[in-house]
Amino acid sequence: KTKLLLDVDTGVDDAQGIMLALAAPDVQVLGITCTHGNTALENSCRNTLRVLKECQRGDIPVYRGSAEPLLGRMIDASDFHGKDGLGDAPDPQAPGLDQLQAEGAVVALIRLVTENPGEVNLVATGPLTNLALAVKLDPSLPEKLKGLYIMGGNIESRGNTTVCGEFNFVADPESAFIVLTQYRCPTFIASWEFSCRNKLPWSFCDEWLAQDTGKARFMGRIYNHTMEVAKSACYQSELVAGSGFVSCDSYIIAAAIDGSILTETEDVAVSVETEGQYARGMMVLDYMELLPHKHKATIIKKVDQEKFKGMMMNALK
Ligand code: BDR
Ligand code: CA
Repeated sequence: KTKLLLDVDTGVDDAQGIMLALAAPDVQVLGITCTHGNTALENSCRNTLRVLKECQRGDIPVYRGSAEPLLGRMIDASDFHGKDGLGDAPDPQAPGLDQLQAEGAVVALIRLVTENPGEVNLVATGPLTNLALAVKLDPSLPEKLKGLYIMGGNIESRGNTTVCGEFNFVADPESAFIVLTQYRCPTFIASWEFSCRNKLPWSFCDEWLAQDTGKARFMGRIYNHTMEVAKSACYQSELVAGSGFVSCDSYIIAAAIDGSILTETEDVAVSVETEGQYARGMMVLDYMELLPHKHKATIIKKVDQEKFKGMMMNALK
């Protein structure tokens, strides 16, 4: 079985990714740690519990993590994911925060990896604050991982939050810097531009949501708001032109489950700009090998769309 640990800021595409992982055969989700990001930490925790309830997987432990980035103020992405981070389609029966584990996310992350040395794929789909704190507490953590999978950063300096910054890295640039330079383990990165360039047609999305299941109906409810924003005029930049279904976090979770979906990758050392007038939070790719940090990450360029579609369909079955 593939053992996964998910670190999430549960917004709509995190929810899609979590459901993809839960439905995948031969995958064991050891736990889910939550962070600030798309929405405030409390919402991110609540949304995660809600997704697990919908999937009848309340047995998976959920841990509360960082409420803020290492420096500066928290930003959110409520314009895209809704005020509650999950499309503002509340469930009155949603589980309460008393369902969270008493153990904190960072301590749990270190413990779960240490108990399963060499076996865990750690997947981060939110700002990297919990992962940065974890490696500071336990510098040997990366060598105990099987792999690290990150949704975040840019490969063409095209922003979705600042002029050239992607949300997860802009939300905590210092943590992104620490993680990219201190996790010297096999590392895979799904950037913003990769996600946009591998979008699925809206017709696939219709088919996906039309499945006659409780999970598909749940997804339809929470995805409504985000889908409207994604289809709206302000979202029609050249990168997302023609539009389509971009579920950023699902790509990296799919990659952590089945590496064979990756059809084009490039290995290069990466870092993050932590200063700068315009570029704070932008990922930099060191093609000239000038930076002190030499560890190469695998940058994902293309996925096998048919396989990915199959995994997405399965997520709502
Ligand atoms: C990332 O930011 C969030 O809005 C999404 O959940 C995804 O993780 C895309 O930039
Ligand atoms: Ca996310």
